[in-house]
Amino acid sequence: MKKLYIETVGCQMNVLDSEMVVASLRREGYELTAELTAADTILFNTCSVREQAENKTYSALGRLRKFKRENPGKIVGVMGCMAQKDQRLVFERAPFVDLVVGPGQLQRIPDLLREIESGGGPQMAVSLGRREGSADEIRRSHETFDPLRDPAMRPTPFQAFLRIQIGCDKFCTYCVVPMTRGPEQGRPPAEIIAEARTLADQGCVEITLLGQTVNSYRHRSEGRTTRLSDLLGSLHEIDGLRRIKFVTNYPKDMTRDLLEAVRDLPKVSPYLHVPAQSGSNRILERMKRGYTVEDYREMMARIRELVPDAAVTSDFIVGFCGETDAEFALTYDLVAECRFKNSFIFKYSERTGTKAAELMPDDVPYDVKQWRNNELLQLQNRIAEELNQEFLARTVEVLVEGPSDWQKRQGAAGPVLQLTGRTPCDRIVVFDGTERQIGQFLPVAIYEVSAHTLFGAVVTHEVGPELLSIG
Ligand code: 5AD
Ligand code: SF4
Repeated sequence: MKKLYIETVGCQMNVLDSEMVVASLRREGYELTAELTAADTILFNTCSVREQAENKTYSALGRLRKFKRENPGKIVGVMGCMAQKDQRLVFERAPFVDLVVGPGQLQRIPDLLREIESGGGPQMAVSLGRREGSADEIRRSHETFDPLRDPAMRPTPFQAFLRIQIGCDKFCTYCVVPMTRGPEQGRPPAEIIAEARTLADQGCVEITLLGQTVNSYRHRSEGRTTRLSDLLGSLHEIDGLRRIKFVTNYPKDMTRDLLEAVRDLPKVSPYLHVPAQSGSNRILERMKRGYTVEDYREMMARIRELVPDAAVTSDFIVGFCGETDAEFALTYDLVAECRFKNSFIFKYSERTGTKAAELMPDDVPYDVKQWRNNELLQLQNRIAEELNQEFLARTVEVLVEGPSDWQKRQGAAGPVLQLTGRTPCDRIVVFDGTERQIGQFLPVAIYEVSAHTLFGAVVTHEVGPELLSIG
């Protein structure tokens, strides 16, 4: 049996892509190993969103140079967004790489590996650039493959990602995704629902719908348009599924019908990740985000009106081209005002091929970016902790995911384990329990909180539903 080692960085799309690739290779007789040196085939699933992610991958590849010289029969492959973005450059920077495959061509990996094994030399499969063919050809070259899923390949068998949309057409000026993942395409609803049914039949209780701008999802066929809200309605009917989440949202498309679906469908988590990116209108315009801070505030008001208990999270980029102290202060004010459950904060990283790289100098010094990052993070952490305080002495419903990070570091364990799980609002809860409880929904009473974690104890006596807060 051939052994496969795969390392995944980046977003949830990449996690799902790795699951698909592993599933396809297992059908070819491969077996997964956690030991790089024991593997016959080594794959890196890569990210291009920031330079740091790419540098890490190239360093990891650099460390393999000697290993590959001593083990020439082993195959080293680079897949994902960096493969699509850098293409032949990967072979130039790491000449011992055998395989470069973009995220739209992953279905070809088994064939390409066979070709390499039979002496065909290095192989590359990438999708078409945004101007390298007809609209239809470009779209098809980015289509993801959709083989049978393999529950054994997921972090847990009872949770799964489900892609409903491929690519992105928003073209924010800082972002490589429209190039690496191609044009936005909504998958046909029937396909999505069939996949969700299969997942539920396999014992999956939670699905997370994935799309770069998931709430912009539209599918037109036979004169009918299906929106995300319609899709949620259909998925809600599937027996066995108990939680449905969706990420990532685009502020402009956070429409009333969608928020009403979140409000009215109990299986849909009241958890909304809606990146704002900046609190300054001039910066938002330079980012070409397509909305103003006033639009974002209106959207927040709509969320608070229709789903008052929703946990809202956001992304911010600090130090974007030309961002002044006063403009950063506007971002700071927006975070203070919106009181997000969490924000992911990034220092602007110039990406070749984007409009920002072409037209705007990356002129905010690194230490200014770092300072802004720290300031915003401190504020966000303070807010997160304050929001979590509201959970003290409340009981939340937790889907138990498995041993906590602390427990995993302990190695061998007794009958009682420290477990971790999530509330419907995506809050992480840590508590003591037993292995048998993994995969179950349990009521947990919270007695301590930090900015990112709730600590509690499983409630063993009967709790009426009125005692369960939405979490
Ligand atoms: N530099 C820094 N952060 C970026 N993001 C996307 N592109 C860049 C970039 N060039 C951030 C955005 C996005 C998140 C996934 O990554 O905040 O929402
Ligand atoms: Fe990138 Fe903007 Fe598309 Fe998000 S919406 S993937 S930031 S281009």
